Amino acid sequence: MPKRPKVSIIGAGTVGTAAAHWIASRELADMVLVDIIEGLPQGKALDIMQSGPIAGFNVKVTGSSDYAATAGSDVVVITAGIARKPGMTREQLIDTNAGIMRSIIGPVVEHSPNAILLVVTNPLDAMTYLTFRAAGLPRQRVVGESGALDSTRFRTFLAMELGVSVEDVHALVIGAHTDKDMVPLPRYATVRGIPISHFLTPAQIEAAVARTRRGGAEITELMKASAFTAPGASICEMVEAILLDTKRVIPCCASLDGEYGERDVCVGVPIVLGAGGVERIIELPLDASEKAAFKASVGAIREMLGALKV
Ligand code: APR
Repeated sequence: MPKRPKVSIIGAGTVGTAAAHWIASRELADMVLVDIIEGLPQGKALDIMQSGPIAGFNVKVTGSSDYAATAGSDVVVITAGIARKPGMTREQLIDTNAGIMRSIIGPVVEHSPNAILLVVTNPLDAMTYLTFRAAGLPRQRVVGESGALDSTRFRTFLAMELGVSVEDVHALVIGAHTDKDMVPLPRYATVRGIPISHFLTPAQIEAAVARTRRGGAEITELMKASAFTAPGASICEMVEAILLDTKRVIPCCASLDGEYGERDVCVGVPIVLGAGGVERIIELPLDASEKAAFKASVGAIREMLGALKV
């Protein structure tokens, strides 16, 4: 009998729980939630399970503080760490979260040597690189959620400007997962294949770009805590692409080895995501200003990595 896939989520905080909720609602996998706070993942798991009879899903969700429970996972999502508070940038989380990541990666890989690791902890590009280096896995098997989230925000704001369905708006954000250095690519954004410049003025496009950059910060300022629903949905989108081998094209943080003229760095680029993880990196032709923005973005990530001494 075919076995349901297994996904472990390390860090049963708001983002980890939202991801588990989305994954359960799509019946993608059985899940194990792990957290350093005793009782938290067990409680969160039971709460999700008890929504199953109403929502109509049958997946099994359990909680544990012991990595043995994660053994044999197909995908391990890492959301452990501290989140930003109002006024904080994602970059300011680096020292605390690097320490947390270093303590997690060993036991994760030991118990699930064949898993694909999906990094969510911020600052995302630095944490993805740290994970890639510490895990000792092929680069295809370490991927970070960055552009998946920034792009769904960009699509949402463009759709608001356009007055059309969000589903018909396609747009991507590459580069670092930071307010300042992300690289939204409006030139490649379309409404069902029609370039957005057919509908929107440069000022309208710039407004959507600016709001995308501050997408996470705007929410944090409003609710005095970090976003979780869209981050959780973005994780679910990526987990689904891996488990169902759909080969979705999603901008994600991946390790570059010569693509875009860069190597030995993890940064957001469009990838083909499937059962093998990062199956392909798509090298988009960039114009001079996009190229300059991407280069600056990589520079900012390298500066962060320097501070981290990976
Ligand atoms: N092992 C396991 N879990 C840990 C560890 C650890 N060493 N250290 C912290 N955690 C747990 C916390 O106990 C908490 O439950 O990680 C969880 C983080 O959850 P939240 O504080 O609610 O933060 P959240 O908003 O979910 O964000 C988590 O994702 O998007 C990023 O910037 C965000 O880095 C942050 C991460």
